[in-house]
Amino acid sequence: MFCVEQLADIQNVYRDLLKHYIKGFKDACKDKNVLLNIELKEVHSLNVAENCLKIAKSENLNQEKTLIAYLCGLFHDVGRFEQFTKYHTFKDDESLYHGELGVEVIKKEQFFKDLPKEIQDIICTAVYNHGLREIQADVKNDELYFSKLVRDADKIDIYRIVCKYYNTSGPRNIALEYGLDDKAEISTKPLNDFINKNLISKEDLESVNDFKLMQISWIYDLNFNFSKQIIKEKAYIDTILDTIKGEKVKQIIKQYITL
Ligand SMILES: [Fe+2]
Repeated sequence: MFCVEQLADIQNVYRDLLKHYIKGFKDACKDKNVLLNIELKEVHSLNVAENCLKIAKSENLNQEKTLIAYLCGLFHDVGRFEQFTKYHTFKDDESLYHGELGVEVIKKEQFFKDLPKEIQDIICTAVYNHGLREIQADVKNDELYFSKLVRDADKIDIYRIVCKYYNTSGPRNIALEYGLDDKAEISTKPLNDFINKNLISKEDLESVNDFKLMQISWIYDLNFNFSKQIIKEKAYIDTILDTIKGEKVKQIIKQYITL
């Protein structure tokens, strides 16, 4: 076990390691849009790591578990940089599953070679599972705990990003909208899933409204009280709801929201 000061030092070492890895993509990047999205994911990775620390604190985790939480958050999207550079999209179904690529990158780059095998396994499992619709059924114990933790931390920061984006007029970032149609309609399958408190699948999305509804539906997949509190405090759900197109659609959704 290590003390608080050592924990901060170790965190910094791994943060610099990730930043160095990302710098390779930034330096080689010649496309402004790709660079913008790489930078967006870099900030997101750092924020998710910070959110993991906040959840760890709220759960009174010890130093070692706090470090694991931090590393899961920091590296959860490590596959995104290669994904966007190669395919110019964050859509996994049009490229590859970025969680799987993330695990490959971690192994190839040997980021965690100095850590015990059990910790490496926990991080890889959390990275793999963070972006799946649901955590795989065979994930147990610590691997399950940290997968849940990073999924919450990720959602909290995605709420921050999209709320800021939805409230900004100006050029659209197609990558953030998954290239969907911005029409004042909602599709039947996502709406039914939402009403039944089920998560919405990315494959069922046909419009930006559906996409926003999917983001709202994440409130049914939160694992920690801290996450619910912060989402309420920042009014992320109301902010997303406000930007849904079509008054009638908005009202229907509103009556089913429980957080
Ligand atoms: Fe993420």
